[in-house]
Amino acid sequence: MISVILGLQFGDEGKGKITDFISKDYDDVVRFNGGSNAGHTVVINGEKFKFHLVPSGAMQSNRVILGNGMVIDPEELVDEIDLLKKSKKNIDIKISAGAHIVTKMHKCLDKKEEEIRSKLNIGTTSKGIGPTYEDKYARTGIRLIDLSNTEIIRDKIETIYNMKRQLLKGSIYENPEERGKMVESLCSFGNSIMKYMDYTENVIYNDYRSGKNILFEGAQGGMLDIDFGIYPFVTSSNTLAGALSTGSGFSFRKVDRVIGVFKAYTSKVGAGPFPSEILNGSTLRDLGGEYGTTTGRPRRIGWLDLPLLKYTIMMNDVDSLAITKVDILGKMKTIKVATKYTIDGKEIDYFPRRLEEFDKLHVDYVEFPGWGDITNGEDIISKGYQELPENMKKFLEFIEGETGKTIDIISLGEDRRMTITKQIFN
Ligand code: GDP
Ligand code: IMO
Ligand code: MG
Repeated sequence: MISVILGLQFGDEGKGKITDFISKDYDDVVRFNGGSNAGHTVVINGEKFKFHLVPSGAMQSNRVILGNGMVIDPEELVDEIDLLKKSKKNIDIKISAGAHIVTKMHKCLDKKEEEIRSKLNIGTTSKGIGPTYEDKYARTGIRLIDLSNTEIIRDKIETIYNMKRQLLKGSIYENPEERGKMVESLCSFGNSIMKYMDYTENVIYNDYRSGKNILFEGAQGGMLDIDFGIYPFVTSSNTLAGALSTGSGFSFRKVDRVIGVFKAYTSKVGAGPFPSEILNGSTLRDLGGEYGTTTGRPRRIGWLDLPLLKYTIMMNDVDSLAITKVDILGKMKTIKVATKYTIDGKEIDYFPRRLEEFDKLHVDYVEFPGWGDITNGEDIISKGYQELPENMKKFLEFIEGETGKTIDIISLGEDRRMTITKQIFN
């Protein structure tokens, strides 16, 4: 079985939890995009694990792979691997020779670019993601394989510095000694992670040929996709299912199942249009603990948005849905779900591309009664779908009817065990 799991909103849908839950059925879990802008939380019997670069399937699968489509901060990776090895000593980690490297200079550039954007400030995670992908596409980027050669790193750092000299004015990187220190530090971290380097396109293909089950794990969410998200309030990589091929080298033709994860409401970190935003969303934010895993920033909160969800389902060609935080949403007395976008009184049948359109957008909602606290969670989990509160089932069935897809995984709590499966995942 070859599957891909993706977020269908603005990130933080609970992909980490669902990836961990299903990864018991997979030998390999492969990340193919993004970097440590991602923050994925997994809770197992009350113990919390946070993943940023390592795939969130690490606790259950045998092998985790960081694909060439990723941008990797070696310092953060070393820390993350050290931490992971405390719980899973024998985890097999492979990192693509072609993955690009985030340096401290990229993080500095991320902040400088945000300053210059001013009004069009994105609210990035400041993890150096944008500038590293810029260098990749400018063909000046540093790849993992380059870290074995000090001269190559030195040349590349100088090229990047020269290209971005204007932006780096006033920063420590104007000082050649600081750039020299960065080269040394990259070599040293490079030494620690070189043992994991591989031509991962071959590793994945060989595992596929020997019949292994492979799960591709997308970071971020469909609405942060650089091409199809709400540009420019997006991340710098493709976050839709298609990206798994370019980000890992594995053919999309061999993917059997696309799993889309969404939250029972919506959250977003950073700036930009948010059609179903609740302007005073603090109740759900507090109930759901909606503060960034990576940056700690309060997340903006909105109702579940079906036009947006249908768009990302289409763009990913989703087979199967997983919903998270149903326990949290149920605590609201009245729940709203966005069903329709209209502009000047006319329903629109496309997802808007022009920012001005979002100003004119009118969102229609339907309401549902909440289903209260899930106090008997363990009981419900053991009895399964039929035991879910009637109001919850109505809400879930409404979404299934609207999207035409089945919700096969229902998450009722942060812990791995607080999960109900239907049909194919039974
Ligand atoms: P990701 O980036 O998509 O992996 O999501 P994050 O880990 O950044 O954010 C999701 C948060 O919700 C984490 O703190 C999870 O532990 C938590 N979470 C996931 N699923 C559920 C759920 O069904 N109920 C509750 N209460 N928390 C959940
Ligand atoms: P996971 O994998 C939520 C958002 C940032 C910002 C925009 C660009 O945990 O779902 P970047 O640093 O990528 O240049 O920031 O994208 N963003 C995320 N929001 N979850 C994420 O990852 C995100 N990764 C990036 O907040 O608005
Ligand atoms: Mg997250």
